Amino acid sequence: MSDYDLQTLLVHGGERPDPYTGAIAPNLVRSKTYKQEFGVNSKYEYSRAQNPTRLVLEEKLACLEGGGRASVFSSGLAAEANLFLTLSPGDHIIIPSEVYGGTLRLLRNVFVPYGITYTQSDLSSVENIKKNITPNTKYFFIEALTNPSLIPIDLELMDEVSMETSIPYIADMTFCPPSTMRAFDYGAFAVIHSVSKYLSGHNDVLAGVVITRDDKLHDRLKFLQKTVGAILSPDECYRCIQGIKTLQVRWEKVSESALEVASYLFDNEKISRVLYPGLESHPGHNIAEKYMRKGYGGVLSFEIASENCDLKKFVDEVQRDGIVTYGESLASPETLLAYPYTMSHGSLTSEEKEKLKITPRLFRLSLGLESPKDIIHELGRGLEAV
Ligand SMILES: Cc1ncc(COP(=O)(O)O)c(C=O)c1O
Repeated sequence: MSDYDLQTLLVHGGERPDPYTGAIAPNLVRSKTYKQEFGVNSKYEYSRAQNPTRLVLEEKLACLEGGGRASVFSSGLAAEANLFLTLSPGDHIIIPSEVYGGTLRLLRNVFVPYGITYTQSDLSSVENIKKNITPNTKYFFIEALTNPSLIPIDLELMDEVSMETSIPYIADMTFCPPSTMRAFDYGAFAVIHSVSKYLSGHNDVLAGVVITRDDKLHDRLKFLQKTVGAILSPDECYRCIQGIKTLQVRWEKVSESALEVASYLFDNEKISRVLYPGLESHPGHNIAEKYMRKGYGGVLSFEIASENCDLKKFVDEVQRDGIVTYGESLASPETLLAYPYTMSHGSLTSEEKEKLKITPRLFRLSLGLESPKDIIHELGRGLEAV
């Protein structure tokens, strides 16, 4: 199946018409328990361990990444937590300096007390990465595109360090779904997604996945699905399967819109910084250009220039007509205006935020499927009011 183009795999990957009815929409199997024969091992026994609808989603996700095997969890963070549960006390991992705040909170407040340690590192050069390695370093855990600065990480460089040190790297590809790049093409050991974002794409599901080509890691994750139980319900698996089918068209559309909005903001005198990998002015543009296909995604960040600006007035005006929504998250049909300072990176200290230039004037915009002209209109009204 993985020989077909991605567009085809998005629709058909992991799926077959139902052999009994011919139905082509996926089978939603809600049954928790399955009939068994005494003394015979069954494929399905109890839905915490195996569920047919979840299996279709897992096969689809693995197929989209070009192979490997997937384990789906009840959110992106549940996927990360289960991955970290495969570590042992004393193990160490290296993560990016700019990492999703939820990942940092999870490590700092849940795994560190259990004896897992981590170091945040600049991942832009081999020397910088290597100086943070300890004898206990088990993985590099990276984000392909960091947030909210949207700096791409050079995956060939990660592969090089990984080969040289024999320390595998795991890539959180939430901001770079397979419609734009695949980390297994650059030697990743495992790929993680918050499926809640681009993959499911409709603002109605929380889901996460770990995909790996390593049998030992996969078997352990399957064991953890059954034993810890942070699995995704069949209804949500169904919604993910259906949502994924339109990933490519959504990705290309929001990428076009984001570039248009980023260019508008770049030319606006009330804006001091625009961070979008599709803009030539962005520090990561060359790396993004090397790895990302069919656009740079729907997320951009921007900073309001004036230090005395009434931020509440700006937000109120932008969302006045209900076209843009001020809220957390990204990659939904609805355009979302987020505030990294208290939302995605709210768990960082003020010093950490200052170091990463996550200032109180920085906003993140996730373009939805509306007309970019209308989004520019809404932003313009907000900017005019301040
Ligand atoms: C890069 C990244 N990884 C993981 C997560 C966690 O995913 P979820 O919200 O599905 O738990 C997020 C959430 O925003 C994210 O941005």
